[in-house]
Amino acid sequence: MSVSRSLVAAVATLSFVASTQAWNVELPPCLDKFQPFVYSGCFQDGGPGNPNALIFRSTLSSDNMTVEECVADCKGNGFRYAGLEYYGVCFCGGTVDGPQVDESQCSFPCTGNKSETCGGNNLLSVWQDPTFPTKQVTIGDYKAAGCYSDNSQQGRALSWSADVDSSTFTTESCLTACEAEGFPLAGTEFGGECWCGNVLANSTTKVDDSQCNFPCKGNSSETCGGSGLLNLYIATDLESLEPCGWVPPSSSSTTTSVSTTSLPPPPPTSTTTPCTTTSVSTTSLPPPPPTSTTNPCETTSTSTTPPPPPPTTTKCTTTSKSTSTTTTSSLCTVTVTTPPSCEYKCGDWCFPPLPDWSNEKDCLKAYSTCAAGVASCFAQAGFPGALQCFNFGQWCSGIQQYCSSTCLFGKCSKGDCWNHNPGQGGSPPKTSTTVIPCPPTTTTKPPATSTKPSHCPPPPTNICTQPSNSKYGYGPGNPVGGISLPIVSCNDIYSDWRNNPFKLYINQKSWNCPSYPPSGCGNACSDACKEQYTQCTNVYQKGCQDGSGFRWKRSEGAKRALSISQFTQNWGFGDNSPSNAAKKCQAQYQDCLAVNKNVNPKQQCKTWGC
Ligand SMILES: *[C@@H]1O[C@H](CO)[C@@H](O)[C@H](O)[C@H]1NC(C)=O
Ligand SMILES: *[C@@H]1O[C@H](CO)[C@@H](O)[C@H](O)[C@H]1NC(C)=O
Ligand SMILES: *[C@@H]1O[C@H](CO)[C@@H](O)[C@H](O)[C@H]1NC(C)=O
Ligand SMILES: *[C@@H]1O[C@H](CO)[C@@H](O)[C@H](O)[C@H]1NC(C)=O
Repeated sequence: MSVSRSLVAAVATLSFVASTQAWNVELPPCLDKFQPFVYSGCFQDGGPGNPNALIFRSTLSSDNMTVEECVADCKGNGFRYAGLEYYGVCFCGGTVDGPQVDESQCSFPCTGNKSETCGGNNLLSVWQDPTFPTKQVTIGDYKAAGCYSDNSQQGRALSWSADVDSSTFTTESCLTACEAEGFPLAGTEFGGECWCGNVLANSTTKVDDSQCNFPCKGNSSETCGGSGLLNLYIATDLESLEPCGWVPPSSSSTTTSVSTTSLPPPPPTSTTTPCTTTSVSTTSLPPPPPTSTTNPCETTSTSTTPPPPPPTTTKCTTTSKSTSTTTTSSLCTVTVTTPPSCEYKCGDWCFPPLPDWSNEKDCLKAYSTCAAGVASCFAQAGFPGALQCFNFGQWCSGIQQYCSSTCLFGKCSKGDCWNHNPGQGGSPPKTSTTVIPCPPTTTTKPPATSTKPSHCPPPPTNICTQPSNSKYGYGPGNPVGGISLPIVSCNDIYSDWRNNPFKLYINQKSWNCPSYPPSGCGNACSDACKEQYTQCTNVYQKGCQDGSGFRWKRSEGAKRALSISQFTQNWGFGDNSPSNAAKKCQAQYQDCLAVNKNVNPKQQCKTWGC
């Protein structure tokens, strides 16, 4: 009887799956011997905001469930964690997305073995496969693997659909979604679809890379697959070093009872299908039951050759109580604060959260980012929401004041600053708990990244000059209608900065801002003048129009504006008639082009750093 590792479609009951389609491939349980999973604790399933602590629900019957059976199923499907709930429902996942709770809460006996524990009501007894690397993975660890077909009737090349906003879809946004659930494989398709998985269905084939040629919807210079074609990415650090079917190298096939994690072998050659490596296991033995006596994370210091690469070993604090169940493992519960999706909202525009800070320098960086965002507010908020952009500008200045006052005298932070100078209209930050493998405890702190940052907020000074005109009364610090010339400054993204050192900050998403080569400063400034003119017309002139058209509106607009800045007192009054406003906007534009004709940025933006 051969073990058929065919594709079985399982019913998807997961929030991660955007569609209700049952695309996920379920592989059979692992029947080969493998290192016993380590008990990791009792975790809440389905807490608020966390519909599923483990992403995959096994189709195995819960009527005769044991820890061994569930663990084998998760192993066979390439997942790092196995969890048993409510007497024997088996779940698997690459991450555990729920808080750990007191051990006593998991108390239900398993249907298949009454002396084992199978969670509780909405509670999971979680076990962890100790053969995974403990490295913290980032999206940079996903390596492009080329273009693959995804058009089989038998199911998807990758099983899990990740819900990623398609209008801002990039390779990075997809990798982020797959990484968050611990999937080693990620694929982009059709310009805006994201798929994740532990294995690649064997119905897929590699095709010529040129066939994947759809631009990503959020970045047209990136490729996001094609029609029925995936751009595949692989993060081997999210794969088990000893997947199902793995055979210890050059061993004399004696069953190694005490396992050694000290020799991280290269993952099997076909990294994509860890379980198809011909499992000739004639023995249908269930995997060895997880014993709580051995500590699989401990490197057994054998006298054999020292392990070549730096070991991926963690120190486990094993509390070996004489009473059964409690064996702790290298699983840590961390509280993750998801920053608010945006922090300051004006009309249709919303500014993404600024990074936190704890010193003056980082505080000023946040201010720079804020200041560069003002033009994007006027450009995108729409009228009359754009009137609030003046407040946003004031808010940014408030940050600057904070940097150069509180931060000079001691402790300062974004949270503290916000207490004095709160953002408006954004969504609050959310906190949730998640479970990750513990970082190595004894190792030194993450090396203080001496490498230069890949992102550097622009110096808040404009390379272009605000023109002056005595007839109309505008000049530096006093632009027409109070609407400043959009900032042209250094490109804040290193990879782009190398070719295009300058950037016109007119979009809150920096990637969407135009950038310019060293010779392009003049163009950047004329584009900035044009943008200022557009905003002048759309916000200031329009404000004056509304004012004269509807008296109550004028006072409304003026009232709103009055509190924020002196100039606006006059909106809609005196020489601020719509026709005068139009003239002023126009004059300023012409002067702006003239004064910025021969911009010479000298040394500005020639070196990277902040
Ligand atoms: C439950 O599973 C065990 C093997 O794990 C098997 O020996 C036993 O017969 C099964 N019991 C039932 C009722 O299916
Ligand atoms: C039931 O589980 C206990 C504890 O893991 C184990 O010692 C025992 O062998 C299991 N019994 C069977 C029949 O598998
Ligand atoms: C996938 O692999 C399984 C097992 O090797 C095989 O039975 C099945 O036919 C394969 N499917 C395809 C589409 O190649
Ligand atoms: C788009 O993707 C390319 C290629 O990865 C990258 O170099 C570029 O900076 C990205 N641009 C934007 C606007 O995201």
